Amino acid sequence: MHLTDEEQRLLDGEGGPARRAAMQLLVRYGTVLGAERLVDTNNVAGGGVASLPNRRDVVADPMDMDATFALLSLDSDETFEIPPVKANTFKLIEGMDPRHWQIQGVSERTKAIVERSQSFCGKLGISKCNTCTPYQVGNVPVFGEHCAWMESSAVIYINSVLGARTNCEGAQSTGAASLVGKIPYWRLHTPEGRRATHHVRVEHRIDDMMDWGLLGYWLGETLDDAIPVLTGDLGPGELRKLKHFGAAAATSGGIEMYHLVGRTPEAPTLDAALGGRPAREELVFTDAQRREAYANLNSATEPTVDFIMLGCPHNSLEQVRLIVRLLEGRKVHADTALWIFTPGALRDVADRQGYTEILQKAGAMLMSDTCPALGRVKPEGARVAATDSCKQAHYLPATLGLQTHFGTVEDCVESAIAGRWVGRLR
Ligand code: F3S
Repeated sequence: MHLTDEEQRLLDGEGGPARRAAMQLLVRYGTVLGAERLVDTNNVAGGGVASLPNRRDVVADPMDMDATFALLSLDSDETFEIPPVKANTFKLIEGMDPRHWQIQGVSERTKAIVERSQSFCGKLGISKCNTCTPYQVGNVPVFGEHCAWMESSAVIYINSVLGARTNCEGAQSTGAASLVGKIPYWRLHTPEGRRATHHVRVEHRIDDMMDWGLLGYWLGETLDDAIPVLTGDLGPGELRKLKHFGAAAATSGGIEMYHLVGRTPEAPTLDAALGGRPAREELVFTDAQRREAYANLNSATEPTVDFIMLGCPHNSLEQVRLIVRLLEGRKVHADTALWIFTPGALRDVADRQGYTEILQKAGAMLMSDTCPALGRVKPEGARVAATDSCKQAHYLPATLGLQTHFGTVEDCVESAIAGRWVGRLR
């Protein structure tokens, strides 16, 4: 791999042992990928110090943040002090909601680890936005900006909708990138790596959130990690719908980028999205594929619902407002918990709007910073869940052992009130 003089000096240790370890990791990683060089980045979204339960179990002392960062974010067994980050870095999801951690079943020990991790991130200069949707709370990369982001739903959103450039990074590569402001230049950083490979003709009208989600889920199941370009009967795709769509495509498969002809910035025409080459394959999405995706997501056999999760990826304020409208003056069933997730910064706005109070009166909880699938938080004793998110419906059975119903947000709210699943595919 070709390194600049500055990069070579960092690799030789001029910036201290942590930045040397970061460069060693990036060079190793980039060499395996076949990257010929690194590219500068000033936009990193990563784990910071991994405080999620599935990560911290591998460290000897999760309260030792320098050692935890070295191992989990730099893949190094050495012990050294972690210096402030060089690149503008945003923290993704956390292990608990600071307000509702007890309701979420979080232990005192986990709370202590999360709080230590948070203050460590602050010391390093990592922005503690604690959401899988940094683009909803102030980190909106510009067209062509080279980024180093993890979290598949965010990666696919900024590549496709904003035209920013990132591969789906991991805790280690984002940890290293944050310290040196570099990331390997390969695949989605390159113009040729962003061209569509498959053409999908959509023949069933896609309008509401659920249909966008089902289309995305089918795409991921069918194409794995290809780059599709879509044409056909696509209704308006606002932020909340494309957030849902991309999250689903990146969950059932490994899709990191898509093009919508005439909508997304690198697809003014079908030919431009394909880069002048023919598509490797042409596919068609009809109502049959939609029904197949719906059936695959509905794993619950019991009609009762004791837990409903809304907000994966984290809800926008517009989505919170819709739930408030659906719930105002009504009451969630006594045997059902309704948890709604949004970034902490948006929950502050929801507080000011009076939404949090209305939801509380209805028996629902507005939560932030974490989510059930990754934070492993759930109401005590919950067995059967429901959600409006393909991603959450995909993960809940595996990560929390919950049978899961999937439907629209309206289906979910009505089911929360009834205490049993009332959704169906229309
Ligand atoms: Fe976000 Fe958790 Fe879903 S991290 S995308 S709410 S699985």
